[in-house]
Amino acid sequence: MAEPKNVAILGATGAVGTQMLECLAERDFPVGDLHLLASPRSVGKVVEWQGRKVEVELAAPEAFEGVDIVLGAAGDDVAKELLPEAVRRGATVVDNSHAFRLDADVPLVVPEINPEDVAWNHGLIANPNCATIIGLVPTWPLHKLGHVTRMVVSTYQAASGAGVPGMTELEEQLGALGRGEEIGVPKAFADQLANNLIPQIGSEKFAGYTSEEMKMQNEGRKIMHLPELRVNCTCVRVPVLRSHSESITLEFAEPVELDAAREALACAPGVKLVDDLAAEKACDRFPMPLYTSDQDLVWVGRVRRDISNPDEARGITFWCCGDQIRKGAATNAVQIAELLL
Ligand SMILES: NC(=O)c1ccc[n+]([C@@H]2O[C@H](COP(=O)([O-])OP(=O)(O)OC[C@H]3O[C@@H](n4cnc5c(N)ncnc54)[C@H](OP(=O)(O)O)[C@@H]3O)[C@@H](O)[C@H]2O)c1
Repeated sequence: MAEPKNVAILGATGAVGTQMLECLAERDFPVGDLHLLASPRSVGKVVEWQGRKVEVELAAPEAFEGVDIVLGAAGDDVAKELLPEAVRRGATVVDNSHAFRLDADVPLVVPEINPEDVAWNHGLIANPNCATIIGLVPTWPLHKLGHVTRMVVSTYQAASGAGVPGMTELEEQLGALGRGEEIGVPKAFADQLANNLIPQIGSEKFAGYTSEEMKMQNEGRKIMHLPELRVNCTCVRVPVLRSHSESITLEFAEPVELDAAREALACAPGVKLVDDLAAEKACDRFPMPLYTSDQDLVWVGRVRRDISNPDEARGITFWCCGDQIRKGAATNAVQIAELLL
């Protein structure tokens, strides 16, 4: 058993922060002192964790005194203001926000792909975007077979990707519609999400692509050490409470046998292959967000040739689903923290 570490969670009351607490307990992380930090709205709330009663503290620089590991689960602005203060006080930070992900001196890590990058951290390690993690975990073992040169991705992202306010809004809208009432003015999303799809996540970033869509390219290049990787991504918010889904087409430099691709996915860490269109139950035929929520693996199915690729042997298409609050955020961050032990 490793020596206990004093741990702080910044944004401990949100969707990711709450899940981090569960992951620390489930994975038996050696937690010494535990500090739960949030906004003035939550100060004084008491959270029960592993038989301890922990009071939520105000997120402020002095709250990081004596802390060894900080798990960041707040927004970009809060992360930028407070996390350098934690590093200055000697803590190592694993942050979930977008604030530091592309900084040259900050490793961006998915433990199944580039755990070695943790070694060159300077106090800050970034957790990638949730849709990027879910998409790259199964892309990586296929890349090792044939070297990925291009990805075409469509994401189907759950409401909980927008945190507690996103989940609450979808639940309220579904409830109101069920009762035959008017829905209120949407706040977490640009429009009504219940019974709808919203094909914009984030603001416009580059040539009509949104910030969320460009993360798949820019973060994917950094994590997989593929600076030339070409990515075309469309991100869509869907009325699913939890677990992102993605359709991904990969183009390879070298031919990749379909059987070898299935075999690689079946053996890959963090992946579960669910790919049998003849199976009796739908849940055994292909991954669906209903079944991939509240667990840590990325489920992959519908693995097939890209018949639109002029060289079919160099194109593979698949579908994947994963719980983005767990593997796309909290679990990935705790796995990184485990690498620090
Ligand atoms: N949700 C996901 O699937 C997901 C996945 C990957 C990454 N992320 C990233 O993880 C971070 C957290 O996301 P989330 O979905 O958990 O959001 P959330 O549910 O809205 O939670 C936000 C957390 O930040 C705290 N906070 C807000 N303003 C603060 C302030 N001024 N000072 C200190 N703390 C403050 C909140 O505390 P109060 O409760 O006191 O307001 C809450 O604990 C974001 O950067 C997000 O982009 C989210």
